[in-house]
Amino acid sequence: MKITVIGAGNVGATSAMRLLEAGLSDIVLLDIAQGIAKGKAEDLMDAASLIGHGRKITGTSDYCDTQGSDIIVITAGFARKPGMAREELLDKNSSVIRSVVKGFKEFNDEPIVIVVTNPLDIMTFLVYKESKIDSRKVFGMAGCLDSSRMNLMVERALNKPLQEIDSLVLGTHGETMAPILSHSKVDGLNLTDIANDGDIAQVIAKTKSRGAEIVSYLGTGSAFYAPSAGVFRMVRAVVEDTQEILPCSCFLKGEYGFNDIYLGVPAQIGAGGIEDIIELPINDNEKKLLGAAADSTRNQISGLKL
Ligand code: NAI
Ligand code: 2OP
Repeated sequence: MKITVIGAGNVGATSAMRLLEAGLSDIVLLDIAQGIAKGKAEDLMDAASLIGHGRKITGTSDYCDTQGSDIIVITAGFARKPGMAREELLDKNSSVIRSVVKGFKEFNDEPIVIVVTNPLDIMTFLVYKESKIDSRKVFGMAGCLDSSRMNLMVERALNKPLQEIDSLVLGTHGETMAPILSHSKVDGLNLTDIANDGDIAQVIAKTKSRGAEIVSYLGTGSAFYAPSAGVFRMVRAVVEDTQEILPCSCFLKGEYGFNDIYLGVPAQIGAGGIEDIIELPINDNEKKLLGAAADSTRNQISGLKL
């Protein structure tokens, strides 16, 4: 196994650290900024004997070092600033994504590609179109992050143990994020049966604005510990062929009634990438939320020059 992480900023370097220190694979960390990936990779190697793993990480700016990667994680690009929506990153990050795809495609034919760069669902679509890799091998990380954030908001609202909470957020990683209450559980019970409407409305609002809330605390840059945990879960599912179901941004071919867009849906992840898309029964309100998410994604895609 060889894993490449492109972008050695906050999300990329932290993801690389999680993957390396869990011993999942050797890692290549690449960044356009000379020295950053090398410096972080060497720093991480200095910790190897303290942590006690036997893996190697190489930092580089040269795509030839990515040759033969089984998995490529793309975190390169600009992060939002306070007051900015993820969607506002579209123009700048489209250029970054195009250069990244050109770079890795020269040395890799059909790797599995996990996209993190925002706006997530649009950048994942762009990677798919530009790379021409099978859509089951190109998918985006966001749904597991948003669902994990919702778990925490439920814990804080209801004071229930986090391990008993299992929330589900689909749709876009943006303004049209779609919390799916009919599949959000607390200790096996429906969230809607044990929480009042006020608590639920607050959980939803706080989940949707959580990324912006973290941005406002940090002042510069956006969240990276929880996003890198999302990357870790998805990469591990591929490396260990766990076949677990995680919400992620997938290319839809009729699933949930949508075609030719990327949208957050539950997917079974294994060695082949997206092994299956799970079509859960959802209610009319949830169908509307997904419809709004699909419309928003389509609008933004129409702004891409393909
Ligand atoms: P960062 O600014 O810390 O790191 C980005 C890195 O990308 C920088 O080191 C930069 O030099 C590098 N880079 C820029 N252009 C490049 C290129 N053409 N080739 C290679 N490297 C290049 O940003 P951070 O916090 O790591 O976020 C990265 C991206 O991930 C942002 O777009 C952010 O919005 C997104 N993000 C998405 C999340 C999700 O849930 N999908 C969660 C958190 C962040
Ligand atoms: C987040 O949700 C910025 O997309 C990033 O934290």
